[in-house]
Amino acid sequence: MDAQKKMNVAVLASGRGSNLQALLDAEKRGELPCAHIALVISDNPEAKALQRAQAAGVEAVFVDPTPFKKRRAEYDGEILKVLRSHHIEFLVLAGFMRILSDVLLNAYPNKIINIHPALLPAFPGLHGQRQALEYGAKVSGCTVHFVDAGVDTGPIILQAVVPVMDDDTEDTLSARILQYEHRTFPKALDLISRGLVRVEGRRVFIEEDPEQK
Ligand code: GRF
Repeated sequence: MDAQKKMNVAVLASGRGSNLQALLDAEKRGELPCAHIALVISDNPEAKALQRAQAAGVEAVFVDPTPFKKRRAEYDGEILKVLRSHHIEFLVLAGFMRILSDVLLNAYPNKIINIHPALLPAFPGLHGQRQALEYGAKVSGCTVHFVDAGVDTGPIILQAVVPVMDDDTEDTLSARILQYEHRTFPKALDLISRGLVRVEGRRVFIEEDPEQK
């Protein structure tokens, strides 16, 4: 596909950025033929995600939240300015530790995805892996979903199931789930950018890939 026709994507990340890295690596390997990660934004100046972006030659921007305490919409307005100035068409939340306001949700309707380390609707919110372990679930996993106004409540795009072992700790389960996150997130972005994902209310349908026929 013509480089100019690629969907221009921004990744928002607050920390480690391993999912960002998986997306950058997938693009580099040619596994995101219709998407280009053009920008990484963080609310944390120390985020390793910013360093990963720079190392990959992707513009990395820290948008300081401190002047906007309790004024989420205004902070999102600052982010929106940066997104617009980079002609961003689609947002990926990869460990972005903030709830988005209507400012971003309305600017990008059904154009924001998130990854969550549990099989939603089970164990939303923080520490999805710890919640699964403490509950005694025998399987957990990860979920890629569209972002709506709730916490981890938007329509589900893809899920991967991961076993919970008897001797798991939060760390071992998190590490096992993370491996699946790193495959599932690029896959979802690829399907969306190729126009193969259709949303009907809460249900998301993956169209047959014409190239796989
Ligand atoms: C991942 O577990 C993701 O599911 C959750 O936040 C974590 C981010 O990890 N939303 P990383 O920054 O991508 O390494």
